[in-house]
Amino acid sequence: MKEILLQKIKNRDICVGVVGLGYVGLPLAVEIAKNQFKTLGFDINKEKVSLINAGINYIQDVQNETLAEVVDKKFLYATTDFSCLKSCNFIIICVPTPLDKHQQPDISYIRSSVEVISQYLEKNTVVVLESTTYPGTTEDLVKSILEEKSGLKCETDFYLGFSPERVDPGNKTYKTHNTPKVVGGIGKDANFIIAEMYREVLDSEIFEVSSPAVAEMEKILENTYRNVNIGLINEMAMLCNEMGISIWEVIDAAKTKPYGFHAFYPGPGLGGHCIPLDPCYLSWKAREYGFHTTMIENSMMINDRMPEYCIERASKLLNSFGKSLNGSKVLILGISYKEDVADYRESPAIKVIQALIREKALVNFYDPYVPEYINGEVVMEGLTEITPQITASYDLVIITTAHTNIDYCMIQENANLIFDTRNVMKNIVKRDNIEVL
Ligand SMILES: NC(=O)c1ccc[n+]([C@@H]2O[C@H](COP(=O)([O-])OP(=O)(O)OC[C@H]3O[C@@H](n4cnc5c(N)ncnc54)[C@H](O)[C@@H]3O)[C@@H](O)[C@H]2O)c1
Repeated sequence: MKEILLQKIKNRDICVGVVGLGYVGLPLAVEIAKNQFKTLGFDINKEKVSLINAGINYIQDVQNETLAEVVDKKFLYATTDFSCLKSCNFIIICVPTPLDKHQQPDISYIRSSVEVISQYLEKNTVVVLESTTYPGTTEDLVKSILEEKSGLKCETDFYLGFSPERVDPGNKTYKTHNTPKVVGGIGKDANFIIAEMYREVLDSEIFEVSSPAVAEMEKILENTYRNVNIGLINEMAMLCNEMGISIWEVIDAAKTKPYGFHAFYPGPGLGGHCIPLDPCYLSWKAREYGFHTTMIENSMMINDRMPEYCIERASKLLNSFGKSLNGSKVLILGISYKEDVADYRESPAIKVIQALIREKALVNFYDPYVPEYINGEVVMEGLTEITPQITASYDLVIITTAHTNIDYCMIQENANLIFDTRNVMKNIVKRDNIEVL
């Protein structure tokens, strides 16, 4: 099997199936197709499939022309017909891994996509899971479903492995093609073949580890490292405020140390599909071993409290000018969870808005990337523009996302009061109406 697959990869005689065409799956599918592999993209969302086949892009990190070109040249085709998996010899799974309402891992997307794959799994096929998940998912869950439902044997009839996706939406330097990739297969041959395939399509280092569990754990470590460090810096920010010290100045000073310190910044809370959720996958799994991930729990408590903390600070700020949140007009600048992207999943800005509404403030928002957002069943529409008159009509402006395409000088000149939770106004000299987190 190893030699057959290696030859097929080298000869571009392999059909790659990418299951789940979102922030992770679509850039990867385009990268594979760009390298002249016949690529089939599978998604349950008909709209996404139609857009791709029409050569229309919906992911910011994918270049419109590249997508149109690979579709036009018939290297990439998307479908909702999962029976086409039969023709794929290399299948990559990029489906969501959210939390359920009890904040526990919801692996139903992985389970259902693997069940479908198992129906069409042929001999001499490679299956790679890329969705972030707890250590053990590939060997315990994916392998057993595939073997049980297909009747094929892992390592003999098909290869299986885990290779975490590390995409950082909006990152100007690191994209799918040049971010180093970690690969952990079941058995040395699986490792070799999976690594060879990625070497063919990516321009980055491929780092092989000894098992899928190591690869699963390293991905969670990456995200837990960020979560815990942001938790630490958020706690420091709250303490610094009590002590009358600027956390931002402290970080600027600390990061002059050329080793042993990596700068993290405070903010109104964690957002996105990864950093707030992934550590919960580990905490949940750890309990099976009677282990409590106390660092994660503590950091979650601090980070989850940040939206409320921001509201407390906003309330005090208004109060110092004789106003209350109740009845005040508040403008939120930024809905997405990070700067210069349109993704608002788990965004703390939405939690800040909800808390403001609970306090009976009159809230509106402006985000150049997010004209509206969906909260449960409700569509929340934002302002379509931000002008000096609009800015001046609010009692308070809260900056929740550090977008770089907002005229902050204009905001400073016209706003009555500003609470800057991202320190985006750090270079503005006139600061009498600015309070920083
Ligand atoms: N977004 C990121 O920045 C990022 C970074 C690294 C890792 N990840 C991880 O990658 C995985 C995917 O995340 P994403 O951001 O791309 O999610 P996403 O929601 O953007 O995309 C997932 C896609 O899978 C589709 N889907 C759901 N169930 C399916 C099924 N049974 N069969 C086929 N398609 C199905 C959805 O319709 C959607 O298009 C998650 O595990 C996530 O934690 C995400």
